[in-house]
Amino acid sequence: MDEMISQSLSREVDGTDIAVHKNLSGIGKSVQTPTAPRSLTFPATPPSHPIWQVPTPSLILSPRKAAQNFKAIQRAFPYASVGYAMKSNPHPSLLAALADIKGSMFEVASKAEIEALVRLGISGTRIFFSNPIKQQAHIQYAINHGINLFVYDSEAEVDKMAQAAQGQQLEVYVRMTVPHVGALWPLTHKFGVEPRRAVELMRYARQRGLKPVGLAFHVGSQCTRPDTWADALEAVALAWKLAREEGFDLDFIDMGGGFPARYTGPIPGPAEVASVVKPMLDKCLPGYRRVFLEPGRGVCGDAGDMVLEVTGIADRPDGQKWLYLNGGFFSGLYEIPDGIRPAVMPILKTARPINMTTYRLAGPTCDSLDTLFEMRAPVEIRMGDRLVLKSAGAYVYNVSSPFNGFDVPVVLNEDEWLMKIDQFKGVC
Ligand SMILES: Cc1ncc(COP(=O)(O)O)c(C=O)c1O
Repeated sequence: MDEMISQSLSREVDGTDIAVHKNLSGIGKSVQTPTAPRSLTFPATPPSHPIWQVPTPSLILSPRKAAQNFKAIQRAFPYASVGYAMKSNPHPSLLAALADIKGSMFEVASKAEIEALVRLGISGTRIFFSNPIKQQAHIQYAINHGINLFVYDSEAEVDKMAQAAQGQQLEVYVRMTVPHVGALWPLTHKFGVEPRRAVELMRYARQRGLKPVGLAFHVGSQCTRPDTWADALEAVALAWKLAREEGFDLDFIDMGGGFPARYTGPIPGPAEVASVVKPMLDKCLPGYRRVFLEPGRGVCGDAGDMVLEVTGIADRPDGQKWLYLNGGFFSGLYEIPDGIRPAVMPILKTARPINMTTYRLAGPTCDSLDTLFEMRAPVEIRMGDRLVLKSAGAYVYNVSSPFNGFDVPVVLNEDEWLMKIDQFKGVC
């Protein structure tokens, strides 16, 4: 982060370029170039710039970028069926863009998610249900819409599915518990079983008329360590072996999501993960034929940026300077206190001298949960300035709430404002 700041500053000192200045010019058509002098000054963004027309709080989505990310995962795993985990961002514009991609599938957790796909004309054969604990009515709805692949990790779930299936041989796969080293959010405590227990569950599913076809795991969200997928495959290998020895014809493995989005730190791309995964698949799961993936964050994370306005500034007795924004934890940025740190692009009303300052960022509500992160900014930020929080595409849009009477972010498409959001660079 500091490296980013010093990079942009040193370019200014050199007089060779003004990083921020350059990034803002040319974002929209017929936009005036910012007029800051080539000195140690952070430029203003002129009033004619479209960023000032954007309502705040808002979320600018790029379905194009989500589609690119999705295709990159498909390319890295040409043998896999990639299903978008729509919980990460079910905005219709993203779903429509992903639905257009050849071979795309969707991973769902509830009836409402299926309904959204049905509205887009997506058939049940492109959908799989990977929520280990499903609502009875949702299972029924899924079956009625042609969905035939369901996860489970308890007898109670087998009973629910058997009751809804009424003799139809649903294909079911067991959610396994796996290591989660390098993931920001382990999902492995809430769900999943050990190998011997998995085989017990397969026996029970078969007895109830379901068809056990394989296993599933999730290494945890924002997993930046490719070897964790390899560790997971090793962890599930025993279940695969024991089940096949017992006559279960397993051919299906669902390797979940976990592909990281780019925030401020380096991340492995899908190809890097794939290069670790393929040899381990061959070694650990002999006879596998169907490989599924369920990426969420890695598809939509950097396909959305949030635009916020500074609506309050205060110095506290401990010397901390606070910046209050008109969006925060309850606007969907609930992952930030857990460690997600978006890059931030300050948009200034007036040019200002470079002056490194440390701020604590917070949302507008009266709740103490509504604090975000500490930020070193290269310039003094004032009321009415704006901050663009990069990579706010995942787990934000559908999480935001109007708590305390504050507006949820308005969702805009990048094309609506003639802005190339990719040109915004995080500088702090
Ligand atoms: C079952 C399941 N699949 C896929 C995902 C998507 O994970 P990610 O956004 O880390 O790719 C999640 C996230 O919680 C999940 O619970």
